[in-house]
Amino acid sequence: MALAVLAGCATVSVVAAALAVALPEDGGPESGTPVLAAVHGVDLGVAVAVEPLRGDDEYRDVVTGNYTSVTAENTMKWEYVQPERGRFDWSGPDTVMDFAERGGLDVRGHTLLWHNQLPAWLEQGSFGPQELRQVMREHVGELVGRYEGRVTAWDVINEPFTDEGAELRENLWYGVLGEDYIAEALWVAHEADPEARLYINEFGIEGGGAKADALYALAEDLVDRGVPLHGIGFQSHFVHGQVPEDLASTMRRFTDLGLEVAVTELDVRVPEPVTDAELQAQAGEYRHVVESCLDVPGCVGVTVWGVGDGHSWIPEWFPGYTAATPFDEEYRPKPALEGIVEALSRRPTPPSSG
Ligand code: G3I
Repeated sequence: MALAVLAGCATVSVVAAALAVALPEDGGPESGTPVLAAVHGVDLGVAVAVEPLRGDDEYRDVVTGNYTSVTAENTMKWEYVQPERGRFDWSGPDTVMDFAERGGLDVRGHTLLWHNQLPAWLEQGSFGPQELRQVMREHVGELVGRYEGRVTAWDVINEPFTDEGAELRENLWYGVLGEDYIAEALWVAHEADPEARLYINEFGIEGGGAKADALYALAEDLVDRGVPLHGIGFQSHFVHGQVPEDLASTMRRFTDLGLEVAVTELDVRVPEPVTDAELQAQAGEYRHVVESCLDVPGCVGVTVWGVGDGHSWIPEWFPGYTAATPFDEEYRPKPALEGIVEALSRRPTPPSSG
């Protein structure tokens, strides 16, 4: 039998084996998604928090049994890593890294330059360009350097555009260093870890529009200048019923630049009271997002933002909305997990012969 046919048979048998593993009754291990994701060569990730990683067996089992990658939801952000200038706290990041490496999970680093969750000494400091450059070099060098070769990708620049869209956000970095802070930060991160894939991570770009157009123009310029930008993160914080149909075509604009893309913070918030019908429809939305990634060569994975509804940021930040993740408050799998499994259960697309 031709190699391709053999490979095809092997693939189908691997998928069948994974599917033979029933979805877990009460959360926990073995939904089969890690095997299914590996068959497609993509990561299926989840954002994790330090405290439950340290103290909640069920939380850890959901992560290791259903995902192939983790993102530190908060602990690698500036306010936790360098709470005072020159004082670094590695306890949280090391907890995430140690957990991931013990479980054979990839790690997405999140995040280096952002306008939120900065420590007071930085946010209220009055730094001139040279000193702020030095501050940035110290922080990125220490954080990215500490985990050199162990972090697959870094969200180097997070949310560089305004919420409305086409203007660069007037954050600390832009105000002092100007627009080229983005290129500077990418170069500094690249020097600290030449192997890590370096991303700009944004929300509100998933269905196209002014923000996506502005980010495309920025990315095209950086690529043309040979700046080490490797990927675009599509955060994908969606409202139930408003998941963009054309996610894949928006992704393709960026992969056509030679960049990779990833869904980096997927959740689909549902208005309360949540009905079974809405949870079933949410399953289709999760399936659509994963299928969109699989449809786009260059989409490297999908990360869900939170290990269960009880650990989701949504209820605090969007009162009246909940049920945004594939597992409920008791870590029981929801129909959304079945949607992910259904998307990953299709025959993998053979690598393009060209
Ligand atoms: O660490 C303190 C703790 O000491 C204190 O006791 C507690 C009191 O409530 O607050 C803790 O800080 C909270 C932190 O999460 C850690 O739990 C902050 O109040 C809270 O604002 C912060 O929210 C995070 C949010 O970013 C901040 O903007 C969310 O957990 C996190 O999911 C969210 O993630 C962001 C991504 O990084 C970027 N994309 C958007 C996404 C949602 O905003």
